[in-house]
Amino acid sequence: MAALALLANVPSTKMTVMPRAILNRDFKLRVPYELKQGQFRLFHELPSGMSMEVIFQKSVDYKNSDERRERMKNPPLVFIHGSFHAAWCWAEHWLPFFSQHGYDCYAFSLLGQGESDTPAGSVAGTLQTHAGDVADFIQKEIRLPPVLLGHSFGGLIVQYYIANMVNRPILETESLYPNLTGAVLVCSVPPSGNSGLVWRYLFSKPIAAFKVTRSLAAKAFQTSLPLCKETFFSAQMDDHLVLRYQKLLIESSRMPLFDLRKLNASLPVPSVPSSSVNVLVLGANNDFIVDAEGLNETGRFYGVSPVCVEGIAHDMMLDCSWERGAQAILSWLSDLDSQELI
Ligand SMILES: *[C@@H]1O[C@H](CO)[C@@H](O)[C@H](O)[C@H]1NC(C)=O
Ligand SMILES: *[C@@H]1O[C@H](CO)[C@@H](O)[C@H](O)[C@H]1NC(C)=O
Ligand SMILES: *[C@@H]1O[C@H](CO)[C@@H](O)[C@H](O)[C@H]1NC(C)=O
Repeated sequence: MAALALLANVPSTKMTVMPRAILNRDFKLRVPYELKQGQFRLFHELPSGMSMEVIFQKSVDYKNSDERRERMKNPPLVFIHGSFHAAWCWAEHWLPFFSQHGYDCYAFSLLGQGESDTPAGSVAGTLQTHAGDVADFIQKEIRLPPVLLGHSFGGLIVQYYIANMVNRPILETESLYPNLTGAVLVCSVPPSGNSGLVWRYLFSKPIAAFKVTRSLAAKAFQTSLPLCKETFFSAQMDDHLVLRYQKLLIESSRMPLFDLRKLNASLPVPSVPSSSVNVLVLGANNDFIVDAEGLNETGRFYGVSPVCVEGIAHDMMLDCSWERGAQAILSWLSDLDSQELI
């Protein structure tokens, strides 16, 4: 994936420091994402003064909400996107779905992505700075320990968050990385990073390897609709929809999330004792980017069996069968609840 170094030339826009929430903020995406009913766009201000876009959707209110229901309140869900995506990818289907099932949902855009501010320099940050931004948001805005969900490279950021949370120095009274109720890794890059994936593809499926590298590293998915579909979505997906998402994918990332050449130095993710946190490792059997071996590696790292959803591609939250992935997470969440009542 050395070709990804080419992306370092993307010019950065001027850094803007925004007050917490401005209604008439100019959109950074030239095709702004229109929120659905019940969704709000907020801006979380980081200690640096930069703002991060957060799309919020509250859980539906139960008319007869009584004390007991309050006591059994579901953990909030915090969603982290991967490369070329932004908060909107969760707002399309999964935010309405989980809100309907009684969960407060927060999806945010990492720096340099979506409607978030763009830092100076050529890349948006490192695994450590992105995980720190997530922690700052959770510490200041979320009261109950949340469930953190990360997709693709966002999953790697979640893994770094967990490592920081678990391996914090003993006696440190107030951690910068608040406790989680759990974590969900959706088609996540495995803890050793993506170099293993690339080498495996190169030897086992050279044509696929060439395609996936060209699609992602050379950003060919931006100009080829079939390649965009093959990289992120199922073959049955409607082309009009793929075209719409392709436009959003092109606009979402103003700079790469990481410098992939330096990423290797912070990998593998520091190990944590298994069972130190509840983790769901969720994969898709038609994933063009993360293969079964990658999924197994992530499962072994956390001492859990991965769950692989059939008939779905890498962009599980946008794909035509998005509901299958959401259902798998929902049933895992309900098991978490019953564990806590014991
Ligand atoms: C967070 O989790 C650790 C380890 O389980 C526990 O010792 C600590 O008390 C928890 N902190 C809070 C604020 O709940
Ligand atoms: C990244 O690290 C892995 C093992 O940690 C190594 O096998 C691989 O060659 C490295 N890749 C690069 C581009 O340095
Ligand atoms: C992944 O793990 C499952 C269950 O242990 C096993 O059946 C499968 O062969 C593994 N796949 C790969 C590619 O390692």
